[in-house]
Amino acid sequence: MRIVVDLARCQGYAQCVFLAPEVFELHGEEALLYDPAVPAGQLDRVLQAAAACPVQAILVGDQ
Ligand code: F3S
Repeated sequence: MRIVVDLARCQGYAQCVFLAPEVFELHGEEALLYDPAVPAGQLDRVLQAAAACPVQAILVGDQ
């Protein structure tokens, strides 16, 4: 599974950082860093983060 964040859409709401801090990291209000390969054991958290993002910027899939 891979993560893609549409950084043009991300508004820095940080729900992803709160729900999956091992995957998402926010620097300042707009620079979101993330690990595109979902780490072992983190898929549930990543899916929660994707569902919680207010602007649906996080996509998780097999691409
Ligand atoms: Fe951005 Fe959504 Fe996370 S707006 S900081 S990807 S919760």
